[in-house]
Amino acid sequence: MQPHLVCFNAACRAQFGITEVIYNCPHCGGLLEAAYDFSAIDAPALKRIWRERRMSNAPLEQSGVWRYRELFPFLDNDSHIVTLREGNTPLLNAPRAAEYGGLASITFKHQGFNPTGSFKDNGMTAGAAQARRLGMKRVACVSTGNTSASMAAYASAGGLEPLIFIPNGNISYGKLAQALEYGAKTFQVEANFDQILALVRVLAEKLGIYLLNSINPFRIEGQKSIVIEMMDQLDWNPPDWVVLPGGNLGNVSAFGKGLREMKALGFIDRLPRLAVIQAAGASPFYRYMKEKGSFEPEVHPETLATAIKIGDPVSWPKAQFEVETSKGTVESVTEQEIADAKAIIGQAGIGCEPASAATLAGIRKLTATGTIGRDAKVVAVLTGNVLKDPDYIYRYHTGQLKAPDDTPITATFGNRPIVVPNDAEKIAALIS
Ligand code: F0G
Repeated sequence: MQPHLVCFNAACRAQFGITEVIYNCPHCGGLLEAAYDFSAIDAPALKRIWRERRMSNAPLEQSGVWRYRELFPFLDNDSHIVTLREGNTPLLNAPRAAEYGGLASITFKHQGFNPTGSFKDNGMTAGAAQARRLGMKRVACVSTGNTSASMAAYASAGGLEPLIFIPNGNISYGKLAQALEYGAKTFQVEANFDQILALVRVLAEKLGIYLLNSINPFRIEGQKSIVIEMMDQLDWNPPDWVVLPGGNLGNVSAFGKGLREMKALGFIDRLPRLAVIQAAGASPFYRYMKEKGSFEPEVHPETLATAIKIGDPVSWPKAQFEVETSKGTVESVTEQEIADAKAIIGQAGIGCEPASAATLAGIRKLTATGTIGRDAKVVAVLTGNVLKDPDYIYRYHTGQLKAPDDTPITATFGNRPIVVPNDAEKIAALIS
């Protein structure tokens, strides 16, 4: 069996060639996923080989994505790969953050250590490789900022022309600045993420541009490496919970697929439970999973965590499957909860962008209700770097941050800069 694409919809499961340029099933409109013949996989041997590769100076072995390429073998040769040495993100313990979250201990997997500062690099290196393999010249995405920063970098590094579509005025300057610096043609559209995605899909079709949103199944394949690397770092002992923020729900889809495949192939002996945390103002998946009616998009999503300001997440059917299969859960958190949790992660010397802090805010709620036990082994995935959104940080610490509905956010853990005269004695008095 050659690598192929298959419709995710259980009632369809139609198969397509791995080089077909499709983003949804042409028969039923369902989401697509990559499938492989894994019968030759030897888990103990690969665990050894992957460790040995860490000592190599070869670019692909140094990549914390491609080191694990045997679990996403969709390419026919490696020459299409563009690597910026993505992945290789650390597991960090943070006792004070654990205490805040109601846990005895917590481990952060910090995807903000990636080349462009977010988890998107794990998937983008894979999506860009597929674009090059297909002979594409131009690639496009709509983004709340991180996907566009990542796509701009990988496309430019790989000789592709990046076209970026972002909601005007609604992404952080750090992310917009990256897109410009990495040379992307950048369109600021007067619409929200969900509306722009529909627009970009039309443009991609019309102009033959390759779409690199997380609906692209190869992005998801690359993002599986986040949990593969996580398990490698944990010596293949799965935690009880993996907690992550949810926006368009591509990442939870990737985590679920990667974990299920690792379990089926004997890399791990059980599945961690997946907990997806959404911002209350952009939480259609949370509502759907609680109420189990039909999936209703949030027409006017609102949150200062702009990375996850998405009302109509495309990957919700996959996300539902992965949360249910792992016996996981979905939680929502307020703007104040996100802001305070973010400051706590900062005080640990770790830091992250607002969307990432939804994890700790969610954990605090889930331990309070007993869903997550105090002694549970929890890995929370920090999806983006602290420097992605410095404006938010400054406003929080100086008591100027306001929620989208204008409610002031309390600077519970605020840390104001102190303006002082050029006078050693006066400054010394302030310090002591
Ligand atoms: N955290 C950060 C920092 C993100 O940038 C995103 C998504 C998410 C979490 C949510 O991940 O969409 O897979 O559920 N950002 C996308 C973007 C939408 O355009 O950069 P998801």
